[in-house]
Amino acid sequence: MKTSARRIGVVGVGMCVPKKVLTNADLEKMVDTTDEWIQTRTGIRERRVVEPGMATSDLAYDAAKEALKRAGCHAKDIDLVIVGTTSPDMLFPSTACLLQHRLGAKSAAGFDLSAACSGSVFSIITAQQYLQTGRFKRALVIGAEVLSGFVDWTDRSTCVLFGDGAGACVMSRVSRGGILATDLGCDGSAAEFLCIPGGGSRQPPSHASIDQRLHYLRMDGTEIFKLAVRRMAESAQTVIKAARVPADKIDCLIPHQANIRIIQAMAKRARLPMEKVYVNVDRYGNTSAASNLIALYEAVQEGKVKRGSHVLLVAFGAGLTWGSVLLQW
Ligand code: UT7
Repeated sequence: MKTSARRIGVVGVGMCVPKKVLTNADLEKMVDTTDEWIQTRTGIRERRVVEPGMATSDLAYDAAKEALKRAGCHAKDIDLVIVGTTSPDMLFPSTACLLQHRLGAKSAAGFDLSAACSGSVFSIITAQQYLQTGRFKRALVIGAEVLSGFVDWTDRSTCVLFGDGAGACVMSRVSRGGILATDLGCDGSAAEFLCIPGGGSRQPPSHASIDQRLHYLRMDGTEIFKLAVRRMAESAQTVIKAARVPADKIDCLIPHQANIRIIQAMAKRARLPMEKVYVNVDRYGNTSAASNLIALYEAVQEGKVKRGSHVLLVAFGAGLTWGSVLLQW
């Protein structure tokens, strides 16, 4: 969808990852895998994991503080907090409420948004709607996950993939540039390909659910791989067309960081050269909802996103969910 009326943009970004690094060599000691397999099949060299006791809101807090600082505003100026996450501190209350209190964002409303790895992109687009109608003036959007608590560390096909982290941004009206076009989609028919089956109302926690390991993430990697490439490429093309920005004018593509092979295949399919693609999956693995915002933060820090740059965020995740945001920085 091409956006019009008020221009809404990102005015500050932040990120936070835990200090503890878990390398492929560390994983070799935990499951039957090799650094060589992980690097060639996924592009991942290492990921970050929290120490026991650290929760999603802790990472979200540090990322949010940095985004606020860079946006030059205070928590009290924020009137909306959205946290994209699938690993909230608790089932309820929302992580957004915990964060709102800790930040001292006294005038803000807040809620969590569940779109798995598409959490940042869904949250940015949701915030944009509130800002565009004028209902709120300044939104704090966060994608944050501590998936290390939900990964089965005995399952080599999934435990090598994920990492913990948080990315954040402040959004408000801008006088130039901003969000030019967005795309969102979902398809629940493929829900079973990537899920945590236990812990919800269908299969509440019980001794049996723990014995059956239902509280851990399960994935059909091959199916997810194919769908991720197709949906992300289509979504990227949808926003490029809607914004009427020629593909060669995209300065930086920031895809969800799940697997370097998915990123390469989707970029090829969307006809976007790899030189313009930001990649940090090698250092953080798949941080799910945090991934796009962490990558945006680093792309800005490294000068790959500059004033006037056309930036394309593309996400894909469990649900299935997918979405894109094309914006001018
Ligand atoms: O954000 C969305 C969330 N998830 C994703 O985006 C992940 C999407 N999927 C993927 O990234 C890839 O499918 C994987 C990285 C998970 C797997 O790569 P693949 O090329 O699709 O490999 P595969 O599943 O076809 O497995 C090939 C082999 C299997 O052995 P056999 O059956 O051929 O003997 C697996 O058992 O690799 C084996 N394998 C491993 N070997 C060493 C699976 N995991 C590992 C491992 N180390 N960690």
